[in-house]
Amino acid sequence: MNQYSDFAFVYDELMNEVDYDNWVKYIEDIIKSENVEVQNILELACGTGNLTIPLTKKNYDIAGIDISEEMLQVAREKGEKENVELVLLEQDIVELDFDVTNLDCILCGCDGFNYITYDEDLEGVFSKCHELLKENGIFIFDISSYYKLSKVLGNNMYGENREEIAYMWQNYFDDYENLVEMDLAFFVKGEDGRFDKFEENHLQRAYKNEEIIELLKNAGFEYIKTYGDFKLEAPKEDSERVFFVCKK
Ligand SMILES: C[S@@+](CC[C@H](N)C(=O)[O-])C[C@H]1O[C@@H](n2cnc3c(N)ncnc32)[C@H](O)[C@@H]1O
Repeated sequence: MNQYSDFAFVYDELMNEVDYDNWVKYIEDIIKSENVEVQNILELACGTGNLTIPLTKKNYDIAGIDISEEMLQVAREKGEKENVELVLLEQDIVELDFDVTNLDCILCGCDGFNYITYDEDLEGVFSKCHELLKENGIFIFDISSYYKLSKVLGNNMYGENREEIAYMWQNYFDDYENLVEMDLAFFVKGEDGRFDKFEENHLQRAYKNEEIIELLKNAGFEYIKTYGDFKLEAPKEDSERVFFVCKK
């Protein structure tokens, strides 16, 4: 799989309809509702810093980790432009190596964990998070739901033809392995007006909520709540994004 290499440089443009200010507000609402003091945050799969940068501006001490050098490069460039000092580390979170403990909060926003396709790897990440958190520390993450990956993406093809960029996105859902393979082809307009094509393949695992809860319990979390689609209410059958809120 080549994931988030060339795609990194068009990611923000393609995500321009995502309301990250509201996302940050939602995270802060969750923190408030759980009565946890949060000053430091470890953010896993931080990508181009769409949550990292606004949270840094809000004076949290935050370190972001991502496996993609290119996504981190974009994050760094944005940080410099906005005069925000970022702490970013290039790492595979399956082999998370972070030695600051007693963390107030660990965050993973926008379905980073769906990229971890084996139960034992995801349980390993959850165990590491449990180890790194302080007592009563909070772990907040979201996944693309089983419903979204199996039915909405499913075996469907998506595409868009914008002025500067066009793409085709074909999905293949394997309901035995619960994996969705995404074949992405992008056409990006260059300075001479011609379009360059590049391709990526992404692989995401569709997890049922109960599977995630079981892995969290195995990793030592007992306090686990689930919310759906940016509401402070339980997810529904057709929620596309499921948030997990856990405390140590
Ligand atoms: C959908 S993007 C989300 C990025 C960012 N959190 C956001 O909200 O825009 C998923 C991110 O997960 C990262 N990722 C996937 N697998 C990873 C792994 N094993 N370790 C670290 N990062 C990973 C990708 O590089 C990508 O930046």
